[in-house]
Amino acid sequence: MRIRTFDDYQQAYQQSVEDPEAFWAGVAQEFQWRKPWTKTLQWNFTEPNIKWFVGGKLNITENCLDRHLAERGDQPAIIWEPNDPHEAGVTLTYRMLHDQVCRMANVLKRNGVGKGDRVCVYMPMVPELAIAVLACARIGAIHSVVFGGFSAQSIADRINDAQCRLVITADGAYRGNKEIPLKSVVDDALIGCPSVEKVIVMTRTRTPVAMLKGRDVWMEQELKQVTADCPAEEMDAEDVLFILYTSGSTGKPKGVVHTCGGYMVYAAYTFENVFQYEPGQVHFCTADIGWITGHSYIVYGPLACGATSLLFEGVPTYPDAGRFWDIVDKHQVNILYTAPTAIRSLMGFGLDKVENHDLSSLKVLGSVGEPINAEAWHWYDDHIGKNRCPIVDTWWQTETGGMLISPIAGVTKTKPTYATLPLPGVQPMLVDENGQEIEGNGVSGNLCMKFPWPGILRTTWGDHERCRQTYFSTYPGLYFTGDGCLRDEDGYYRITGRVDDVLNVSGHRIGTAEVENAINMHTGVVESAVVGYPHDIKGQGIYAYVIADAMPSDHDADLTKRDILATVSRVIGPIAKPDKIQFVSGLPKTRSGKIMRRILRKIAEGDTSNLGDTTTLLDPAVVDEIKAGAV
Ligand code: WTA
Repeated sequence: MRIRTFDDYQQAYQQSVEDPEAFWAGVAQEFQWRKPWTKTLQWNFTEPNIKWFVGGKLNITENCLDRHLAERGDQPAIIWEPNDPHEAGVTLTYRMLHDQVCRMANVLKRNGVGKGDRVCVYMPMVPELAIAVLACARIGAIHSVVFGGFSAQSIADRINDAQCRLVITADGAYRGNKEIPLKSVVDDALIGCPSVEKVIVMTRTRTPVAMLKGRDVWMEQELKQVTADCPAEEMDAEDVLFILYTSGSTGKPKGVVHTCGGYMVYAAYTFENVFQYEPGQVHFCTADIGWITGHSYIVYGPLACGATSLLFEGVPTYPDAGRFWDIVDKHQVNILYTAPTAIRSLMGFGLDKVENHDLSSLKVLGSVGEPINAEAWHWYDDHIGKNRCPIVDTWWQTETGGMLISPIAGVTKTKPTYATLPLPGVQPMLVDENGQEIEGNGVSGNLCMKFPWPGILRTTWGDHERCRQTYFSTYPGLYFTGDGCLRDEDGYYRITGRVDDVLNVSGHRIGTAEVENAINMHTGVVESAVVGYPHDIKGQGIYAYVIADAMPSDHDADLTKRDILATVSRVIGPIAKPDKIQFVSGLPKTRSGKIMRRILRKIAEGDTSNLGDTTTLLDPAVVDEIKAGAV
């Protein structure tokens, strides 16, 4: 299973392409199965219908917890670093984590949750979040974690789509110097969620909360009522493990579905190999468990490999911009996995914040979530890794379950801004707009995959047709990633960004249509169009062109902008707030009524010299007005 040299990689890759079933069967057999699978892979990309380890039975928590007890029961599984560096942290050994997961699983059972039920988790980054996720998996309940920054409306949409029966939350969350009233947001959400029968509330901030009789219970009190004896539910390899909602180019976010067997194998395999994890090492992934990166590389991947996973509650700039380095020093972190946005923002605070910390424990640095620019790559390499830690620029998606294109630390020769080579089992293909394969090197195109890997999504919750349409219909027979990509002379891959209407703002995926719908909910707005533009820190910023009822005067414009921002925050969450709003009297539309986003993107980028052909526009004059008023 373990790759140690470039030769190993090439051999593994070759086998994974020539005989994928044998390759993945070999990887999977290192895990604990209650019953072996009878067929390693069944698939087609037309329906699509993808099944790995058919007939195999397992429970992922037995692999993440029970399996490690004999050998490393007393080794830390989770190290928790609180938001406030002066608050005492928590270290949970594998034995302690096992105990707490079993207790929480019993709490879920006590509150009516069983196999196949959906549970929404809306929590701060505390150990109880990881425990809640694993407790669901223990009993075969399906978790749907919602990032703690999403609005009540977003939670309600997700709960209703999955028909969740129970919500696990906390009174509040600390994030930097902010306090977020999670329970009160949940209360607002639940007004429109008839499927929810119970809410389990953890105490974190001691913010006063309203506890609804018959519905809401305190986690601490519930935990007193149960024992730590909870045998794991036997799951089929293809039973659903979790749903995670993510944005696409149209409509509301989709519930990406991952299943027990394939996801586990893939998250663990990629964790161990890409980071070249060694027993005893401390792994610090700075993502929130509300995103796929946290699912795969804070919870499931590291725990399946028996690693020590550091879970950080706060933000990189609190109490100051040296916090990450302080944590690395304090906990002797060996693997640091973060996003380019964080690196770019910390670069801005200068080296003083870095240099007073000992970073010599670091062995491997990772990057994820968005393209990393050369400047950030080199700063990370020079000042954090001191030119002695390989950087793994890992490209992947919520839908892929784990990393697909990435260097293997110390094994693959890196190249700044390149995700480099496909991992074993991953068969990328570049295609042009007509779906023709673009062969050879020194080319670019749309990035597709021609063969399944165990971590690929199986469906989108409640709407398989949407899954087919979104990922498998653009180029029949292929999985389409939505990303543009170039393959250089060495065959190295570099992801150039989304080619659809999905923005990547600070590593967060946001659909332009979602933001437009939110803006349009403001009473004074007639229509809007949202595009991305290059942003020094966030990677992409959000630029909104808004047609208002009446063109506001300068003074009113500021007020209206503030109201629009408040509306977007309310409808989606603060992460979707536009950075720039421009009021316009019209939008550049073709005669058939289609907005020409290409033109809007160019203007937002500040590149108005060559707007291309505008003769097909209904009203070409509107372009000059927009150009003149660009912000
Ligand atoms: C982008 C996050 C360039 C890409 C794991 C992808 C990246 C989207 C990289 C998925 C990278 C992720 N280099 N771009 N190393 N990693 N992306 O679902 O556009 O939140 O399609 O998954 O992020 O975002 P998601």
